[in-house]
Order: sequence, then structure tokens, then C-alpha cells
Amino acid sequence: MKPISIGLLGLGTVGSGVIKIIENHQDKLIHQVGCPIKVKKVLVKELGKARAVAIDPAILTTNVEDVINNPDIDVIIEVMGGVEQTREHLLQAIRNKKHIVTANKDLMAVHGGELLTAASENGCDLFYEASVAGGIPIIRSLVDGLSSDRIKKLMGIVNGTTNFILTKMTEEGLAYEDVLREAQELGYAEANPASDVEGLDAARKMVILATLGFSMKVDLADVKTTGITMVNEEDLHYAKQLGYTMKLLGIAHRDGDDKVEVSVQPTLLPKAHPLASVSNEYNAVYVYGEAVGETMFYGPGAGSLPTATSIVSDLVAVVKNMRLGINGSYAVAPQHQKSLKAPEE
Ligand code: NDP
Ligand code: HSE
Repeated sequence: MKPISIGLLGLGTVGSGVIKIIENHQDKLIHQVGCPIKVKKVLVKELGKARAVAIDPAILTTNVEDVINNPDIDVIIEVMGGVEQTREHLLQAIRNKKHIVTANKDLMAVHGGELLTAASENGCDLFYEASVAGGIPIIRSLVDGLSSDRIKKLMGIVNGTTNFILTKMTEEGLAYEDVLREAQELGYAEANPASDVEGLDAARKMVILATLGFSMKVDLADVKTTGITMVNEEDLHYAKQLGYTMKLLGIAHRDGDDKVEVSVQPTLLPKAHPLASVSNEYNAVYVYGEAVGETMFYGPGAGSLPTATSIVSDLVAVVKNMRLGINGSYAVAPQHQKSLKAPEE
């Protein structure tokens, strides 16, 4: 059967992982989708840069048009980051009837609604599992596995970098700057790590989770956000002595009147709390549903291969949809979405 052709936007930490999984798991992927998956073009900023994967230089390009306007490409995988320009590129790709898989929470938290509408109008899929909690299939679990339930509360450690920093400072007494540097070297941090340590990355992820979990339109501006920049070694030391652990916690809560509150802030958890033992770059999301009760999802929240696993699994979902001639996205139909600002009575 004819291969599925991929256009990759970005070949950094996550993009390299995508190439590795597509190459190393090709047999499994062929078994899943019934045809080979071929990476046709890869957009980068710098052609001559050393790469974490061996790549045919002939498929590299610095011209985005070679990817998004390429008639031979079926699916665009966006792992370059950025918001406004990337939004333009993806809208253009969607107009060209390309299916989209993205890891970009900055983009999805702000322009997700617009992109999902454009995808639906153009008969394209738009999947973004990797945008929240790296390798944990939390988005799919909310929109599929728990779709019959009424979600009341979401609580999560959804930023790997800050969890790595807080863990290393608490457990090994390391200095904030040193651990942040290590998180950057390991590929966990954002290109601008301020969004990690100031809590914005976690806030964006909570917007995505709350939007899907509560079928609400939640805006980033509605999330009360405090990062970890003011947390010092002494705070962590005394918390530990008193039997507590500090975590950057995202909380989204829906009350009986359908009022939703979302916040991200450093929080002291008793050591016995299930989220207290989530360490290093690992993430966990606690979901409380009216019928199901308590559930918890745990796994690596950042890094090359865990994140790429979510992306390539999304790709498999896209190709299966192509085979069936149907479309799908992680979305709540707009007519079923309530606004956070004006909840329905
Ligand atoms: P990197 O900085 O490692 O890689 C970005 C890649 O995109 C690079 O290959 C870069 O090219 C390319 N790129 C960036 N801007 C442009 C541009 N304007 N034109 C052409 N190429 C460009 O980022 P990550 O791989 O860490 O992250 C990618 C995305 O995935 C981001 O949206 C991030 O938030 C998200 N994400 C990251 C996770 C992680 O653990 N790192 C986890 C989950 C999501 P070049 O290599 O030439 O510089
Ligand atoms: N910088 C992000 C984090 C990457 O540390 O969680 C994963 O989204």
C-alpha cells in the first residue's frame, strides 16, 4: 500500500524522538496502519546543525512552504513551537487539507478553538496529545475513556521542568540555577524556560485539560498563576522537615453551579499524598468524575521519546481515520461548550 507521507516542522528534542520512533517501530506501525510511514520533508532553522538523529540532508529545508504546501505530504507534525507564525502555518496546511499532529500547548491553549474549527471545516484531523503531560495519554482519556462521566475536579503536576527542579532541590539540596540548567540540557525545558518556572506552561496545559474535561471555554487569562521563582531552598528544607513536599500544582474545579476555577501554584502536600511521590520530570493528573470517582494518570511529562510516543500514537490515529474515511480531533463540539464567564443556569 502507498506510504503515508509526513512533513515534520522542527527537528529538536521532540522532532528527533519522532524520527527515532517512526524508524525504530516501523514494523509495529505498519501492522497498526497497514502501510509504511515515510518522513518526506523536515523544516529546521539551521541546515548545518548537528542532529540527535541521522537524517538525509536532502529532506531538510528552511522553507516552510516546502512542507505545508507540499502536495505529496498527508500529515504535518508540528514540533517547532511558537504561536502566531505557527498558527498561520498550520491554518495554511489545513487549507491544503493536511492532517495535523502537534505538541504545542502554547498554541493550543490560545488558538485551539480556531484551529479545531478550521480542521473540522476542511475535513482534517487535529490531534495534540503531546501538548499535555508528555507521554501520558491524558487527553485521549478525558475525551474518550471518561467521556460518559461528569468531571468535577482535575489536579495535576503537569510541568516536568519545575517538578525536576523542586525534586532535585528538595532531595539533593542542589541550587535552583544548576538544576534548571540540567533540565534544559535534558531537553525538558521550553526554549524560553521562563514559561516553565513562572507557571505559564502549566497554566496552558490546565486550560487544555479544563476545556476538554469540563466542556467549557476556559481562557488563559482566567487561570490564577504563580510559578516557583520565589521558592527557595529554605522553604523546601523546612517543608521536608515537617513532612511536606512542595509541588507546582494545577487545579481545575467545577462546582455544582458549573462555575469553574483554574489555578497553578506551588503547593505543600503531605508526604502521604499520592501526588507527593511524583518526582523528577514525571507528571501525574488526578481526575475526579462524578460516577467513576478517583482516577490518576502517571508517567514521564517531558523529554524526547516519551513526548514522541504520544505524537506518533496520534499519527496512528490520523492514519486509521484516513483509512476509514472519517475525521476526528480531540475536541468538544462548540455547541456543547459553555463559557466559563457566563455559566448556564
Ligand atoms: P527544540 O527547541 O528542541 O526544537 C525546535 C525545533 O524547531 C528545532 O529543530 C528548530 O530548528 C525548529 N524551529 C524552531 N523555530 C523554527 C522556525 N521559525 N523555522 C524553522 N525551524 C524552526 O524544541 P522541543 O523539541 O523541545 O519542543 C518542540 C515543541 O514541543 C514545543 O512546542 C514544545 O513546547 C513542545 N513540547 C516539548 C516537550 C519536551 O519535552 N521538550 C514535551 C512536550 C511538548 P533548529 O534545530 O535548526 O534550531
Ligand atoms: N517544558 C515542558 C515541561 C515540556 O517541562 O513540562 C513538556 O510539555
